[in-house]
Amino acid sequence: MNTQRTGIFSDQLHKKILSATSIVAFTGAGISAESGVPTFRGDEGLWKKFKPEELANFDAFMRNPDLVWEWYSYRKQIISKIQPNPGHYALAALERLVPQCAVITQNVDNLHRRAGSTTVYELHGNIERNYCIGCGRQFANQDIGQFNRAPRCPCGGLIRPDVVWFGEMLPEDQWNASERAAETADVFLAIGTSAVVYPAASLPVIAKRSGAYVVEINLEYTELSRTADEVLLGKSGDILPQLVSECFQNQ
Ligand code: OAD
Repeated sequence: MNTQRTGIFSDQLHKKILSATSIVAFTGAGISAESGVPTFRGDEGLWKKFKPEELANFDAFMRNPDLVWEWYSYRKQIISKIQPNPGHYALAALERLVPQCAVITQNVDNLHRRAGSTTVYELHGNIERNYCIGCGRQFANQDIGQFNRAPRCPCGGLIRPDVVWFGEMLPEDQWNASERAAETADVFLAIGTSAVVYPAASLPVIAKRSGAYVVEINLEYTELSRTADEVLLGKSGDILPQLVSECFQNQ
């Protein structure tokens, strides 16, 4: 029997993935870049065009709700027109192949769920949801339509997007679940994140300390590369489908 592999990934990575009971994928803006969502810190980054530090915070919203809402309407429009890419679909497939598989995402674009992942922890919220700052009532995007002005709840309160703004805490339930998943992961994949925004960026370190095999997938080396057991340089939309099909080709 010929046991020699012809794939591109290391034997060690194959073994770790095939023997894993729990795999966690921790994703950042890079995984959605191939769907057409601009990343935050690249040359085409949203930061450069729109200075979100000035817009994505509660004080700015209270000072000028219409301006902040208009910026989010623009982002909502971009996101409503795009589709998940092969990287998102590969993670959804992985969930069906591994006993436990969770996605922890810093993205607000909902593309993991749209691709079929079901265990998704959203650390920075979800741009498809909104809520009233007065009474807390939730509104889906389709419930409020395309507004250039900040919409109001029937109670009179302003409606804001359900995303985490500068200076705000992460949603506690999503953080706690993410921390638990990182602590119990056998393999931790950090995908398309510059790993500079805390506390999210501490998750790969928590996973490593707890014994996970940490694999980084990125176009370039990052702050995380020193912590990772392996760095796979390239597009997540290429690497993830290859990794899943190569590891599980006989299943
Ligand atoms: P960044 O824009 O900081 O980083 C994106 C990373 O993806 C970079 O390291 C790129 O090299 C990499 N990348 C780009 N295209 C890629 C591709 N096709 N395949 C693989 N990697 C690719 O975005 P995040 O790390 O997600 O927070 O930023 C983290 C947080 O910073 C965001 O969630 C946001 C921001 O402050 C909030 O809004 C609260």
